[in-house]
Amino acid sequence: MALVNGNEIFNKAREGKYAVGAFNTNNLEWTRAILGAAQETNTPILIQTSMGAAKYMGGYELCLHLVQDTIKSMGITVPVVMHLDHGNYEAAKECIEVGYNSVMFDGHDLPFDENLEKTKEIVKLAHAKGISVEAEVGSIGGTEDGITGAGELASVDEAKTLAATGVDYLACGIGNIHGVYPENWQGLNFDRLEEIAAEVKTPLVLHGGSGIPKEQIVKAISLGISKVNVNTECQLAFAKATREYIEAGHDEDVDAKGYDPRKLMAPGTEAIKETVKSRIGWFGTPSL
Ligand code: 13P
Repeated sequence: MALVNGNEIFNKAREGKYAVGAFNTNNLEWTRAILGAAQETNTPILIQTSMGAAKYMGGYELCLHLVQDTIKSMGITVPVVMHLDHGNYEAAKECIEVGYNSVMFDGHDLPFDENLEKTKEIVKLAHAKGISVEAEVGSIGGTEDGITGAGELASVDEAKTLAATGVDYLACGIGNIHGVYPENWQGLNFDRLEEIAAEVKTPLVLHGGSGIPKEQIVKAISLGISKVNVNTECQLAFAKATREYIEAGHDEDVDAKGYDPRKLMAPGTEAIKETVKSRIGWFGTPSL
């Protein structure tokens, strides 16, 4: 199946009380690992680029072509959504132009009225081209690729107002944090999630999916979360497997050419794939 937008996938997910994972890519290996995990589990998936990762890779158009061409060369048949993660206004517009299937406009750092107005504009531009839109209410704590949030809890009224713009999914701050969770983290705020889910029927998004205990993820999904974003866990898995390969001295094995990047990066790539498959299991994404 070709790339698709997120609407059908996430509406079904909210109704069916399961989630679909959204995994950040950084390069070819990441892209192959994420798509491979989706194909092996026969589940839909969302592959996303932050603004920083897209800049690192050479721009949004290149990222889109990388994903499109990898889908083709790997013979991927499951539905894949190509999504912009935490885009500012300019990035969201550029990705709509370039042809992503889905964009997040993250206006959390703007006054609410401006976030609302800009979200409306992005929805209009995106929907005219059949592209899905995610908006953010409250903020996600910590920093991801230069996007920092204080972790304010989403207000129920603001969530209702943003949902009324027609966004296709809504990210809510409910105590979630990007990156590694601190020792003294208080956990997800389920009361606030329940309040929002009672008022907003739009599929809800949980950012900062790495490091949240499985029971909390499962509970959040049962309360209305339909999309879970994961980035750091794949990075940690890649780094650990690569370190083990190097610490075992494989990169210095001249006879086996263990320094060849295709060999050096293979364990890390496999570790990303296993991480993605494990999270797909946690999220309860049903096989097609
Ligand atoms: P983590 O890096 O904490 O998994 O968060 C990913 C994310 O929310 C991307 O938007």
